[in-house]
Amino acid sequence: METTTYKLREWQLSDAASLAENANNIRVWNNLRDYFPHPYSENDGIQFIQMISAKPKPATDMAIVVDGKAVGGIGIIPRTDVERVSAELGYWLGEKYWNRGIMTQVVKEMVSYTFLNFPLQKIYATPFGFSIASQKVLEKAGFEREAILKKAAIKNGKIVDEYYYSFFRTQWIANVHHRF
Ligand SMILES: CC(C)(COP(=O)(O)OP(=O)(O)OC[C@H]1O[C@@H](n2cnc3c(N)ncnc32)[C@H](O)[C@@H]1OP(=O)(O)O)[C@@H](O)C(=O)NCCC(=O)NCCS
Repeated sequence: METTTYKLREWQLSDAASLAENANNIRVWNNLRDYFPHPYSENDGIQFIQMISAKPKPATDMAIVVDGKAVGGIGIIPRTDVERVSAELGYWLGEKYWNRGIMTQVVKEMVSYTFLNFPLQKIYATPFGFSIASQKVLEKAGFEREAILKKAAIKNGKIVDEYYYSFFRTQWIANVHHRF
């Protein structure tokens, strides 16, 4: 497997062109929520970066930087009200960089960042039943498939299942201790 070094950092306005170039891909969009724009213009990138830059710190969204360029993104959406102990994780990567193990490492790093910076008990992700690569990423990063939410979503006109994967703070603490 080809390995590539990457860096996670906060988004900068100067990322907008590279963001649009990598995000403007139907094969990326097909696996994401419909609020992700398609086609994805540089202006969509600018709007996204301005929107997340205005949020309170610590940052919930990170750019995935390869060879100095922002080529993907990962973020959490902390839940509210009685679910304020959990957050949803979402991510994507430019197609040129797929299948090099990047996202598995990125997800692990984001899990650590999240538990270090937010008082959350649980991080979950809900890939579509057909998003096999994403499910593999979550499994390789130590997530557990807790449930299948049958017929929970519609994508491209088809009713689809969502697979609910989770990672708990207790698990993260156990892993950190195990390392030393
Ligand atoms: C899902 C995604 C983030 C994966 O990123 P990545 O850096 O390629 O992931 P990794 O290389 O760490 O792991 C991908 C795994 O999926 C496997 N895979 C890829 N396509 C596959 C397919 N069609 N069927 C089965 N396995 C597949 C790879 O072989 C690899 O597993 P392996 O290490 O056991 O060989 C990337 O494909 C992507 O951005 N897709 C579009 C958006 C998306 O799906 N986002 C997630 C929404 S929940």
